[in-house]
Amino acid sequence: MEIKINHDLISLDKAFTEYFKEIVKRKSHVAVALSGGSTPKSLFVYWAQNHREDIPWRDIRFFWGDERCVPPADVQSNYKMAKDSLLDFVPVPKENIFRIEGENNPLEEAKRYACVLKNELEIENNLPVFDLIMLGMGDDGHTASIFPHEIDLWDSPDWCVVATHPESGQKRVSLSGSVINNARNVAFLVTGSSKAKKIEEIIGSHQTSKELYPAARINPVSGSLTWFVDEEAVKFL
Ligand code: 6PG
Repeated sequence: MEIKINHDLISLDKAFTEYFKEIVKRKSHVAVALSGGSTPKSLFVYWAQNHREDIPWRDIRFFWGDERCVPPADVQSNYKMAKDSLLDFVPVPKENIFRIEGENNPLEEAKRYACVLKNELEIENNLPVFDLIMLGMGDDGHTASIFPHEIDLWDSPDWCVVATHPESGQKRVSLSGSVINNARNVAFLVTGSSKAKKIEEIIGSHQTSKELYPAARINPVSGSLTWFVDEEAVKFL
């Protein structure tokens, strides 16, 4: 596990961009799973404003690690956030965008998306392999859309699961832990002091953290794990 501490969001965006460029230049048709939430939005805007030409957008296939069960035009949609901040500004072919269809019945969509992964990704260890999975972490230690109150979903034999937001009750479709840990590269993007306590528990490897927090269960089978954090998020380390 590598931890890259950045002074602020813009330096994190720049550091992550160099990391991302390294991954996408290794092979063609790389498969990247995007995370949702607010942290990656700054990165997407940075890419749209500064990296339209020097990243091989036409050669990247975009998937999602999780999605809220809302229509694609809904302001809560992770797809909409990526479309509005990045995908509308860079030349990613439509056929390279594999969104989770939040407007569908959640259980049916979890099955459908698992079929998409089977059809589109290489299979290793009997699991789909992403070249890169980007993740965020909630203040409660959730990641993707696996929340602490449903932490057993992490070990589901299904590749995609239906989760429930603990406060809003909103249904989500999420990759499960086995798919996430089967990726060649996993990158956490975590910023802000509200994440500092969980980061200290998780990176500080408090044994109980793995029992409590899905984000503590990220442990790629053979891939790399890199935390991109700002100084606020690691102030207790
Ligand atoms: C989502 C994300 C979720 C997010 C964390 C952190 O659908 O909300 O996938 O896992 O990454 O909640 O969100 P912030 O980046 O907004 O703190």
